[in-house]
Amino acid sequence: AKRVRVPALHAMKERGERWPMLTAYDMYTAEIFDAAGIPVLLIGDSAANNVYGYETTVPVTVDELLPLCRSVVAASKRALIVGDLPFGSYQVSPQQALETAIRFMKEGNVHAVKLEGGVRVAPQIQAIVDAGVPVMGHVGFTPQSEHGLGGYRVQGRGSAAEQVLADAHAVQEAGAFAVVLEMVPAEVSKQITAELSIPTIGIGAGPDCDAQVLVWQDMVGLREGTPRFVKRYADMRGVLTEAAKAYAADVVGGTFPTHEHSYH
Ligand code: KIV
Ligand code: NA
Repeated sequence: AKRVRVPALHAMKERGERWPMLTAYDMYTAEIFDAAGIPVLLIGDSAANNVYGYETTVPVTVDELLPLCRSVVAASKRALIVGDLPFGSYQVSPQQALETAIRFMKEGNVHAVKLEGGVRVAPQIQAIVDAGVPVMGHVGFTPQSEHGLGGYRVQGRGSAAEQVLADAHAVQEAGAFAVVLEMVPAEVSKQITAELSIPTIGIGAGPDCDAQVLVWQDMVGLREGTPRFVKRYADMRGVLTEAAKAYAADVVGGTFPTHEHSYH
């Protein structure tokens, strides 16, 4: 089977077909989500919080993300794989952005890259697109700027909607193939989705985007204390806790391993 490519996502927008996206940071999750039919997988810089245990996405580096990218690409067959450029790897200049995108393509084996920001990073998006690399934008709440934005907050309420709209349009004009809308009022996302020709991918952005993304650990209930925009489809935290406790009890009680698990 062939990989999903950008024109297929654009065709889905034209047909009004919604599609799901998930993060993945390793082999098994990539294999499972790919086989489940998720067409786009993102190695998010949210690996900072969900793999490396950092408090924010700010400290995670290109060198920390590239091995995760390689594993997700190697373990998937059909999905379009997007690598997320971390804080500090593209803000300096369009040239820096292009150099980082090239590393993600050559050393991460990904098929596209994502970066945060609208109007202010349009030159970066354009430089990467001009080199033949598909770029996914990300506007609204942008976690790499959480210190500047004053924490996790909905962006684009009231008159601030104009800025989010301008950012989304700037991303499209710069040549991005899709744009993530994070923590944006549903009414604003609906308007952006109607105005843009590229697909919008919501997270905390209401029901009217062209696509939806979640961090996989949130989607399956691995992380505690998820925000209201998350829906949990499993209790993986409970499942793993019970498994670890049962295993521990067996070892301590001498009921595992038995002769069945032994070589003679
Ligand atoms: O890093 C990430 O997981 C993301 C998605 C939530 C869009 O940027
Ligand atoms: Na991200």
